[in-house]
Amino acid sequence: MNPIVFRGSRLFAEDVDLASLAEHVGTPFYCYSTAVLEGNFRTFASAVPTGTLVAYAVKANGNLAVLRTLAKLGAGADVVSGGELKKALAAGIPPNKIVFSGVGKSAAELSLGLREQIFQFNVESEAELELLAKLATSARLTAPVALRINPDVDAQTHAKISTGTAETKFGIPLERAPEAYAAAARLAGIEVAAIHVHLGSQLTSLEPFERAFRRIGDLIPVLRKAGHRIERADLGGGIGAGTAAPDIVAYGGLVERFAREHRVSLVLEPGRVIAANAGVLIARVLYVKEGWRKRFAVIDAGMNDLLRPALYGAHHEIVSLRQSDEGSMETYDVVGPVCETSDTFGTYRLPPLHAGDLVAILMVGAYGAAMASAYNERSPAAEVLVRDSQWSLVRPRMNDDERLRLDRIPTWLE
Ligand code: LLP
Repeated sequence: MNPIVFRGSRLFAEDVDLASLAEHVGTPFYCYSTAVLEGNFRTFASAVPTGTLVAYAVKANGNLAVLRTLAKLGAGADVVSGGELKKALAAGIPPNKIVFSGVGKSAAELSLGLREQIFQFNVESEAELELLAKLATSARLTAPVALRINPDVDAQTHAKISTGTAETKFGIPLERAPEAYAAAARLAGIEVAAIHVHLGSQLTSLEPFERAFRRIGDLIPVLRKAGHRIERADLGGGIGAGTAAPDIVAYGGLVERFAREHRVSLVLEPGRVIAANAGVLIARVLYVKEGWRKRFAVIDAGMNDLLRPALYGAHHEIVSLRQSDEGSMETYDVVGPVCETSDTFGTYRLPPLHAGDLVAILMVGAYGAAMASAYNERSPAAEVLVRDSQWSLVRPRMNDDERLRLDRIPTWLE
């Protein structure tokens, strides 16, 4: 299902004409479809066993309106910072549906999770376990914990978004898991009843999941034999989106078999598969210029708005909002205005472009706005949420004067 489609020569998100929307909100802006978000969440939730906590990975797209849309469908949240935790709560996601992941949670962040009585801390090291135990006992609370295990399985995805191999900082090495569980059992203030694994992101095949789940599955009886209670498995996120994505129903079958075989309930942390195809980035062509050997279309969105191409070499399809019959397609390098050679979206075949034309960059609902920065003192793109024929500016673009006021001049320079 994708309600971001052309109707005749005009691109619509649900019943909103994106070219008209651009006149109202200015470019560049992200536009998200409620119907796609809801459809993706429902598809995912119905493919996995009933009773599974689907904890949406807030890092993929943490806009409050996106979170609230998912909260209304019963989504939980996987958060990785105090900021994300506060956002999830503000969006109406109850604490008992929130899991807290991340390799570097501060004492303040752990304390916030304890105070809010979240569902589960996904602990990534013995050192974090000790700090959490200390904070929990001094607050006279018990922290519900899953230990994140690093299975040393290659997710066969981009190296920069692969997290489950022995080389990465994530989780506790599988071979040390029995000691870590034993250490946890000795600590007051800690209650371990779960195991966690997350392999990486944008997985296009189920095979790495299978291998990792087998390794984690083999560990469960060992832990139980040692007297540990393993009631739950948090199998992370990582399902890819787009044409090469694995089949959600097949993924659902895989996790269902795991749950049955090991007699555990499940927590899952999908991010990209919920949000990616729900979002487009609309930008305007500023200039078309001829280089030495290439023709460039310079658009008003840059790597500060969408970092994925520069950081991972990610390819996002770009379409022109003017579906013209004007001759044949031409080749452009579509680039942003930022003063970096890596500020390029890639080479595209597009209908002839002219200054003022609008383009849409597709599949950017996940890890688009969420990774935006203000590099070159450029405020990140605005964000708009669409529902049927309604639209709402769910994050305005900060203006230059507001941004200017963020800095302070020290007294000695006044
Ligand atoms: N759970 C944990 C512990 C994670 O670290 C992540 C993603 C997820 C769940 C959600 O993964 P997803 O279902 O979205 O693949 N910025 C990169 C992606 C980084 C993902 C980091 N962790 C990108 O733009 O491709």
